Amino acid sequence: MSYRGHFAEMTGDEAAALIDDGAFVGFSAFTPAGAVKATPRALAARAEAEHAAGRPFALRVLAGASSGPDIDERLARAGAIRWRAPYQSSPALRDAINGQRCEFMDLHLSHVGQMLEFGFLGELDFAVVEAVDVTPDGRVYLSASSGVTPSLLKHADRIVVEINERHSRRLSEMHDVALLPNPPHRSPIPIHHPLDKIGTPFAVCDPARIVGVVRTNEPDGVPAAREADTVSAAIGGHIAEFLAGELRAGRVPPEFLPLQAGVGNVANAVLAALASHASIPPFWMYTEVLQDSQIELMRSGKLLGASTSALTLSESNVDEVYGDMDFFAPRMVIRPTELSNNPGVVRRLGVISVNTVLEADIYGCANSTHICGTRLMNGIGGSGDFVRNSYLSILVAPSVAKGGAVSSIVPMCSHVDHNEHSVQVLVTEQGLADLRGLGPMERAARIIDRCAHPSYRDYLHRYTRESRLGHLRHDLRRVFELHQNYLETGRMLPEQ
Ligand code: COA
Repeated sequence: MSYRGHFAEMTGDEAAALIDDGAFVGFSAFTPAGAVKATPRALAARAEAEHAAGRPFALRVLAGASSGPDIDERLARAGAIRWRAPYQSSPALRDAINGQRCEFMDLHLSHVGQMLEFGFLGELDFAVVEAVDVTPDGRVYLSASSGVTPSLLKHADRIVVEINERHSRRLSEMHDVALLPNPPHRSPIPIHHPLDKIGTPFAVCDPARIVGVVRTNEPDGVPAAREADTVSAAIGGHIAEFLAGELRAGRVPPEFLPLQAGVGNVANAVLAALASHASIPPFWMYTEVLQDSQIELMRSGKLLGASTSALTLSESNVDEVYGDMDFFAPRMVIRPTELSNNPGVVRRLGVISVNTVLEADIYGCANSTHICGTRLMNGIGGSGDFVRNSYLSILVAPSVAKGGAVSSIVPMCSHVDHNEHSVQVLVTEQGLADLRGLGPMERAARIIDRCAHPSYRDYLHRYTRESRLGHLRHDLRRVFELHQNYLETGRMLPEQ
């Protein structure tokens, strides 16, 4: 390893001891992929010891997106995060945020790197980043994700590098690191194809700021993908049929367009449906997270290649990829989020995006983040980067949640992340509503008839009929009646 003898080697405990209460710390992580492990674990133990001794210990924490269990979950359980951005998916941290014990700044992921660059987030005290190697002149070869790690390395006063020997050193063949200059000195980003590379295979930092190297050998611990349930499979089927129709109509070109798919079960089901549809040709992806299902699709030749910010793969797929880098390395590019999610590039490439939301309203606005307008689920993540800028922006949700007690189609979203100007297609297992070219009342009829669960359709039609006339129809006294019922009785409508 090229760092030996050049940087102080230390344990996670020793690294954690260098970080003070109140510090602004950036951790490498984009999902559990490439998340640091030993240092945050030691920081959580340190926070517990400090709290037991009656002393405060809590950090401002930034990462690329969500993180591994050693960061958000462990640190939140230890009460050691007082501010967090830009996305999380940890139950303990979610509780802390919703209990107002931690401030959370929900950001578009493509904005985070440049916010550090612009100085909008303040001075970064520490970066703790995972890598496969670091050289004496400050080249940091990142592990399974990029996220905002290159920006953390550029801006942090002090840096700890965790070298994780579990990862393949050949990951550098996939990384493409480039940081954009600040306006007004920005030129067009020359990415014209999902696999175009414009930067270097490593991130850089001032080696004088590296205070230590911690060695680990641990998996990222990404859980294996679940089998598609019937609801996700139905949503996937509607989308595949719709896109096949768009191809036939000539609105999607014969060579198809790059896809972005959000994280989780529905995204996997959509990809599986596209892969098995006879009329959909092999395709590329321009996305932010590469998941298990994409590995199989690459092997089968249906997925030609992918740009991503993270390899979020369970262990068997990590072994598959690292065991055959000759096949996989030329087919994948790992980029900082500012590029993987860049609105200009998304628009230029004509990305078709598919993202899951909690609820959508009858006019096409959507809520990805806040249950009943107050309780944070995860955050907007990269969905806004894609929804606003895609060639075709598709949002999906099961038509009901909580065993039918909650309708995901409502008169007005209790929180709006994506508005009707961006959302073009809405899909539930009930059907697909193509909203292109429709005015509000046409949208309402189509969304209710095609997407709402049958047990909510009468209510929603009645609501629009009885509401105050205008360009849109709303009854401001009743607009959140369904949400209010749910909060008071646990059901949006009385059981029929
Ligand atoms: N009202 C109340 N609760 C709701 C609800 C609604 N409208 N919709 C869902 N829920 C509940 C579910 O019942 C479930 O609760 P449970 O865990 O107690 O059963 C919980 O919310 C999560 O729902 P689920 O359907 O399992 O969510 P998911 O794993 O498919 O994730 C999002 C859905 C929207 C939370 C997730 O996709 C997300 O965070 N999106 C925003 C970021 C994003 O799009 N990233 C990708 C961009 S690249």
